[in-house]
Amino acid sequence: MRHKRVWIGLILISAVLLLLASAARAGGYSSGVKLSPIEQLGKSIFFDEDLSLNKNQSCATCHAPEVGWVGPDSAINQGGAVYEGSIAGRFGDRRPPVSAYATLSPIFHLTRKGLFVGGNFWDGRATGKKLGNPAADQAQGPFLNPVEQALPDSACVVYRVCMASYPVSLENVWGSTACDITWPVDVEAACAAPGSPVSLATADRATSDAAYDAIALAIAAYEDSDEVNAFSSKYDLSRGPRAVKLTQLEQRGYALFRGKGMCHRCHTSNGQGALFTDFTYDNLGLPQNPDNPAGLSFVDPGLGGFLKNAGYPEAVYMAEWGKHKVPTLRNVGLRPNTAVVKAYGHNGYFKSLEGIVHFYNTRDVKPTCPGPYTEAQALAANCWPAPEVSANVNTAELGDLGLTSAEERAIVAFLKTLSDGYQR
Ligand code: HEC
Ligand code: HEC
Repeated sequence: MRHKRVWIGLILISAVLLLLASAARAGGYSSGVKLSPIEQLGKSIFFDEDLSLNKNQSCATCHAPEVGWVGPDSAINQGGAVYEGSIAGRFGDRRPPVSAYATLSPIFHLTRKGLFVGGNFWDGRATGKKLGNPAADQAQGPFLNPVEQALPDSACVVYRVCMASYPVSLENVWGSTACDITWPVDVEAACAAPGSPVSLATADRATSDAAYDAIALAIAAYEDSDEVNAFSSKYDLSRGPRAVKLTQLEQRGYALFRGKGMCHRCHTSNGQGALFTDFTYDNLGLPQNPDNPAGLSFVDPGLGGFLKNAGYPEAVYMAEWGKHKVPTLRNVGLRPNTAVVKAYGHNGYFKSLEGIVHFYNTRDVKPTCPGPYTEAQALAANCWPAPEVSANVNTAELGDLGLTSAEERAIVAFLKTLSDGYQR
């Protein structure tokens, strides 16, 4: 009898170890949520570092689940907050936003009231008009962006996905011909060198393009799964059946969020399933981040810059200059422990929720700092730097909220109830 139990125990332990090992290969992340085949394929792609020029970077490098699908590196977040790409020394100029809940953004459009709404990216340029969902359009960007995964050709992504040994393959999901492409003998070398396209016959190119769309749709399917859009925060559990109770401080914060703080006007918070964004665009007058690797000469035009490139008239794009998409507030407080630093805002200027809430409250009350101060310097000197873009700054809904410091603390406490994976 005894021996039998020991054996069963050993078998169970090895089964658990095997499961853990396979989870580690899939990026080490498992929430226990059951994924459909297309979601599983998208997950493998999302965590696969081989899908970058130097096989050293995946989507998760800049969108890690343990910090709520943003950049996980405290040292980077503490400074410029912009992540290096696959090629050492190559940087973008914005902070990675939360990639969760991005699939729920509507296709970029102009409302009858003249408001731009929807899309993905801080400036909305992944509109969703190509593949029917902004997150799918978005997913085709990073692989080929020279300051991100930096592959020279979309065919390289297709080649590496077709050669990979994922638990669910591209063919499993999209049919047995999805990878029917005759690859040139030098494809490995071509995909390991920046800027060299793969030469393919016309029919193979068409198959490859279709597969590249299929890859983006699989990523979007994963991003739309219950593992990523989890809706499992304390806030969520405080609304369902067998509700968890928010503390008094959190409840007070929620009331201020919807009332005196006016946060709810943009970070929509209506009940179950609230996304904490209305997917519109605003210029909050965030200061420049002095540590941005792009340097102080870089001024981010946000939505206005995208509209300009897209050919809109000057009167239209100048009215949107400096505006950025209202981000979801889900997971803003999520981190493995309090030593981990996260950055907030399109340029990562803020390093704490306390800092950004204090900014909303006092932007227009404090004197202007004499130079491009960091958040820590500005807090120490009791000033705020001038806005990065001075046009179109919203003064109606923020800047002088008249919140006491106890009220600021209550709002921060409420923001921390939005972290997924809450354990009763
Ligand atoms: C080197 C870091 C880096 C890598 C790698 C990366 N991203 Fe991002 N991601 C960013 C940055 C920076 C932005 C914002 C860029 C902008 O707004 O111009 C962004 C934006 C996004 C958004 C938009 C979210 C929103 O609400 O608008 C999604 C979704 C996303 N990334 C998913 C992905 C996927 C999928 C991959 C892999 C195919 C990926 N990212 C790879 C840094 C990265
Ligand atoms: C007028 C619309 C508006 C209002 C009102 C508003 N926000 Fe925001 N919020 C935004 C926009 C837009 C951004 C991104 C700005 C940027 O990066 O330049 C943002 C960013 C944030 C971020 C950073 C999130 C991230 O991932 O970077 C936090 C936290 C936040 N807001 C909390 C609040 C709180 C708390 C309030 C109320 C005190 C509030 N917001 C009121 C529009 C608004």
